[in-house]
Amino acid sequence: CGIIGILGQSAVSGRLIDALRRLEYRGYDSTGVATLDDGHLERRRAEGKLKNLEVRLRAEPLSGDAGIGHTRWATHGKPTEYNAHPHATERVAVVHNGIIENFRTLRHGLEAKGAKFASDTDSEVVAHLVHSYLLMGYSPQEAVKASLPQLRGAFALVFLFKGYRDLLIGARRGSPLAVGYGDGETYLGSDAIALAPFAQGISYLEDGDWVVLSRQRGVIRDANDAVVTREVLEPGGASFVADKANYRHFMAKEICEQPDVVGRTLAHYVDMRTERVALPIKLPFDFSNVRRVTITACGTASYAGAIAKYWFERLAHIPVDVDIASEFRYREAPLRKGDLALFISQSGETADTLAALRYAKERGAHTVSVVNVPTSTIARESETVLPTLAGPEIGVASTKAFTCQLMALAALAVAAGTERGEISVSEERKLVSALIEVPRLMGAALASEPQIEKLARYVAKARDVLYLGRGTSYPLALEGALKLKEISYIHAEGYAAGELKHGPIALIDENMPVVVIAPFDGVFEKTVSNMQEVVARGGKIILITDAKGAAESAIEPVATVLLPDMAPTFAPIVYSVPIQLLAYHAAVIMGTDVDQPRNLAKSVTVE
Ligand code: G6P
Repeated sequence: CGIIGILGQSAVSGRLIDALRRLEYRGYDSTGVATLDDGHLERRRAEGKLKNLEVRLRAEPLSGDAGIGHTRWATHGKPTEYNAHPHATERVAVVHNGIIENFRTLRHGLEAKGAKFASDTDSEVVAHLVHSYLLMGYSPQEAVKASLPQLRGAFALVFLFKGYRDLLIGARRGSPLAVGYGDGETYLGSDAIALAPFAQGISYLEDGDWVVLSRQRGVIRDANDAVVTREVLEPGGASFVADKANYRHFMAKEICEQPDVVGRTLAHYVDMRTERVALPIKLPFDFSNVRRVTITACGTASYAGAIAKYWFERLAHIPVDVDIASEFRYREAPLRKGDLALFISQSGETADTLAALRYAKERGAHTVSVVNVPTSTIARESETVLPTLAGPEIGVASTKAFTCQLMALAALAVAAGTERGEISVSEERKLVSALIEVPRLMGAALASEPQIEKLARYVAKARDVLYLGRGTSYPLALEGALKLKEISYIHAEGYAAGELKHGPIALIDENMPVVVIAPFDGVFEKTVSNMQEVVARGGKIILITDAKGAAESAIEPVATVLLPDMAPTFAPIVYSVPIQLLAYHAAVIMGTDVDQPRNLAKSVTVE
């Protein structure tokens, strides 16, 4: 969820909406705002996306120069208007990101004392808890201070109080919260992206901090209630204008931008002149001393990690474990001091990845994060940040961030190989020159779009789709299946081609499209055998390969998507393009909300 609070010099409802628009990547199940209108708390809330709230506000505008807002990704309770934030009693309104784990116990206690709840959420309990102290004569500060220790779980909270025009209170435990300072105004928000257009300076609260804001100043206290100062930073480049240009969807634009942004990321990691890797930052360790790498991420980013595993193992001979963050953080994975823990995240705000990062830090591992948002929490908390230069990614389904992650990881794997003496300088040059080819090849891969659009019509008729690949094409098959299901809602599965015979082959019949990702590489022959197994059972193959692969495959696919010949090592960066286009066009045909598919959020900030 995304949260915002403004103590302004003028009416705030327009700016609350503006900030919520920037926070929609954190969820769009419902939205809401509350302001102090003539000292009274007034709320407007709406189910679904922000535009519904805007319609509501046009019909029933809100005045008031102090207010809070929220965009929700539902955890407890359906995404209806009555479950939308802000939650409020007559005297206090609150917006919340995170989960209050003990809300049932608290709710029973408060109901027993007469509190009347109006939602199914865990968050509403916070409003009633604070209210119960206000009823006992506590000031707003005292009421929040008394309430916070009773809450279990992760949260960022912002409170607005009836009758207090110059007061916002914020609190952070687990979920990020930033304080913004402007000209006679102050702000609270989930991240710098929300605050950038208004704030001249930003301080990030640390875990356990809570802050009492007036228009003139903010007093921050830590978990022990000592007044603390937190560094004030420039809001930085977090301000951006999201522009679809002439594209129908952000996703289409972001797919097409890839030769450009992957090229930009490449230029950040290699020296084009010497054809050698030149990392943007000196790593605080030597790869020769690294015994093991653990890669942790969620969703699409975790598939970038799974591809990188092949590169690190092959080029640098370092054993690599790849894990999804929600498993890694609770698995009690043994990590030793000096191990390398690598995290990958587009947003840098994903709660599970952040928790995994903190776990690794506590155990003394070196932490390196590949992150697209430089002001994000994961970027700020990592020992070393390797940026991807994808620019803002708006489509919920990740495309350009994924291929930029792959580019940064490829460069890192080559650097590791050279530093460990596993590859010679001339081999390094060969690999780097292959990387330099990638943006151009991605451009050529985009030319397959008209053909893929036709294929998408075929795929869109299917109930289930299977994606197969070996080697680095295997994680790409997983990513292809994820992409298709998240935006078209067609069920899809990715499988290692060699594993097909151990189960999924049972699903194959003439109604099942099977997308095979097979550049002509060292395992191509093996993949061909697996394709034979599919064909023998009536399965319909869509083969994505190159000229050599098409010539050697000796099977008759329903269609062959031909990509240019390339060095196979980094082929997954280029092969991502047709995979993304297929999902995109299938979704367009299905008529889904491509950029904001149902039930998803761009960045999931709860565990
Ligand atoms: C969400 C998004 C995915 C994304 C994942 C990880 O589930 O819908 O597209 O891959 O989070 O996000 P991150 O920002 O950490 O890369």
